[in-house]
This record gives sequence, C-alpha cells and structure tokens, in this order.
Amino acid sequence: MNKRISVQDFARFKAMGEKIVMITAYDACQAFWCESAGCHALLVGDSMGNTVLGYENTLPVTMEEMLSHTAAVRRASKNAMVIADLPFMSYQVSIEEALRNAGRCLKEAGADAVKLESGSDLAPTVAKLVQAGIPVMGHVGLLPQSVLKDGGYRLHGKSVQEAEAIKNDALSLQEAGAFSVVLEGIPAQLSQEISQILSIPTIGIAAGPHCDGQVQVISDLLNLSGAKPPRHAKVYADLCGVATAAIKKYVEEVKQDKFFQ
Ligand code: KIV
Repeated sequence: MNKRISVQDFARFKAMGEKIVMITAYDACQAFWCESAGCHALLVGDSMGNTVLGYENTLPVTMEEMLSHTAAVRRASKNAMVIADLPFMSYQVSIEEALRNAGRCLKEAGADAVKLESGSDLAPTVAKLVQAGIPVMGHVGLLPQSVLKDGGYRLHGKSVQEAEAIKNDALSLQEAGAFSVVLEGIPAQLSQEISQILSIPTIGIAAGPHCDGQVQVISDLLNLSGAKPPRHAKVYADLCGVATAAIKKYVEEVKQDKFFQ
C-alpha cells in the first residue's frame, strides 16, 4: 500500500539532510503530474487567485474555492502530502473561525495539513489548531495576503530589525507547534540562519538555496499562462506555447475542413 508523506516524514527529511520538494497544484491533472514526478508535498496555494481564478491577487479566494480545489488535488494524489492554504480572513478574525475553517480543510477536502501566513501574533491560533490535531505549516517573510498593507511585493528582512522580527516569527511558530515554515522573499543569509536555528524544516521561495526544501508555483515553473514569470522562478517548460500551438492547429483544421482527414 502507498504511504502518504506525513509531518513525521518532514522531520525525518530535515534530520537526514534530505531536501523537501514542494510545489503548488490546483487541480487533479496538476496533482497527477507533480506526484508522478516525485514531489513530496502539494500546496493548494491561495496563489490560485492569480494563477487559476483570474483575480489580481490572492485576497478574493474563498473557503469554498479552496475546499473545492484541495479536494480535487487530494483525489488525484496517493503519496504526497496535500496542504490547503487558508484564505485571507479565514483565520485572522478569531481562533474559533480558524479552527472551523482549518477543520473543514481536513474533514471536507481531505487535506493533510493547512498553511497560514503568520508571525508571532498568530502563534496562539497555531497552538490551538495543533492542539486540535491539525498539522500547521507557517509562512513568514513576504506575505502575499498583506500586499495592500505592504504596497506591493518586495524582499523582506533586509534591515536588522526586520530580520530579527522574521526570525522571531519563525521561532514562535515552531514553539506553537507548526511542523514546518515557508520562508518567502527574504535574503539567503537570513533563511540560512533561520534554517539552522529551527528544528522544523524550512521551505523556501525566493529565499535562496539554504532552506531545507523549496516550493515553486507550478504556473511559473511550466509557464502555464504566458505571463512574465517572477524573477525567482525557474521556467522548465513552455506549456502555454505548446498548448496555444496545438489549439491553433485544431482551429485551422476545423476552419479548413481538414479535421476529419
Ligand atoms: O499560495 C502560494 O502559492 C504560496 C507559496 C508561494 C508558498 O503560498
């Protein structure tokens, strides 16, 4: 029987120095590709707001959208850990709402864990979720759900004060019981320091090579949309180009009455 990657496996990977591979996946097809390729964890990121649902940022993503996409990813995967990203305002209002919404991700969508964008301010919420039996992945540094407050996306942790605050955020998440933490958009030296201090694994994006694992957005990695990829992204394939060329061929064949030839 296939065994799904667990939080204990994450701890083991860190202890053994084995790099953790996480990727976003938003539907059954993508989950199948990513799992077949050997990814350890599939993050149903709220980046689906931009990459799949056509919103300007992640803020409009709803619980219903997250549950629906997470369930699709879960149905199509057997081995990878499936992590649901708690949408903006689904966990900030109260601990009760956070518990209810994180619980729905596990009960209704079959997620193995949830992720939330948080610092020390939300450590009591993380502690309650973990006490309730919900594995939590934290997320510090650049927080896309704070894009309006921050006035855009930028590198965080460049000043000594900001770096200290991010370090403290990561530590308080670990103390609250988080099993892992995403480090996004911070200098490589800071992510190296945090990865050394923490006993739980760090997963980096735009945070340099020293994290215990990496996460990438599938739409960037495969150039699904044709949009200019962010600077930190590595583009391994041009699926937008391949798909557009194939559909163009279909259009031409139908128009020229050659489809049945
Ligand atoms: O939503 C997302 O894709 C994320 C990753 C960038 C970590 O949170």
